[in-house]
Amino acid sequence: MCISAHEKIRTSTNLRSLPPQGSVSTNSTTCASLFDCKYSINTVDDIVKNDFILSIFEKNLKMKIVLLGYMASGKSSIGRKLSSKTGLALIDLDDYIVEREKMTISNIFSEKGEIYFRKIEGIYLAEILNKKEDFILSLGGGTPCYGNNIQIINDANATSIYLQASVKKLAERLIAKKQKRPLIASLNDDQIFEFVGKHLFERTRFYEQAKISIKTDGKKKNEVVEEIYNLLF
Ligand code: S3P
Repeated sequence: MCISAHEKIRTSTNLRSLPPQGSVSTNSTTCASLFDCKYSINTVDDIVKNDFILSIFEKNLKMKIVLLGYMASGKSSIGRKLSSKTGLALIDLDDYIVEREKMTISNIFSEKGEIYFRKIEGIYLAEILNKKEDFILSLGGGTPCYGNNIQIINDANATSIYLQASVKKLAERLIAKKQKRPLIASLNDDQIFEFVGKHLFERTRFYEQAKISIKTDGKKKNEVVEEIYNLLF
């Protein structure tokens, strides 16, 4: 097992207490409790050498992952696939809002207005991030760009991931599925291209504050899921 595997475990999980590789020797009690298992480990290096223990550790892995990016960047579908691969629960913020408000997103926009939507979006985001349990959270496209949401996301003990896609890809996908998206539902195809170009430009500075950025153009969803999995697990 290589140094980077050790570093991955140390830095991508809540186990910040695990010291850098080779820096100290720890006794078996400490390591056993750290991994919540009863196998005897003499040094920290032993941990990374032992695939069996690593696999036990991976099965018990806990983390909060927040997927963000523009509309149609794949947050919900990649969230679902990552959830089935990792076993972590998936929360889709739009679905959460629909369930709590008992209204569709389109109806919230048309009946209560976007300002109301942004207010409750921020409230529900904070509510979810305060949960003790771990999860994968797919945000709405605008979530990180309003109030101090991006700060709240990054201050929570969570790994934020920006799913980055080009204007062309996003606009093509949105043209195919614009009806359920109130911000673009009334635009024609050319207007959607122009809208996405300007809007993405305005929002990129928020998206780029995510801890990790992943380029998704030209990749299948499963490939993006693998990339995230290999980075974090
Ligand atoms: C929005 C994106 C939508 C939804 C709402 C507003 C936005 O979510 O939250 O229509 O401002 O970009 P998706 O990104 O899942 O479409």
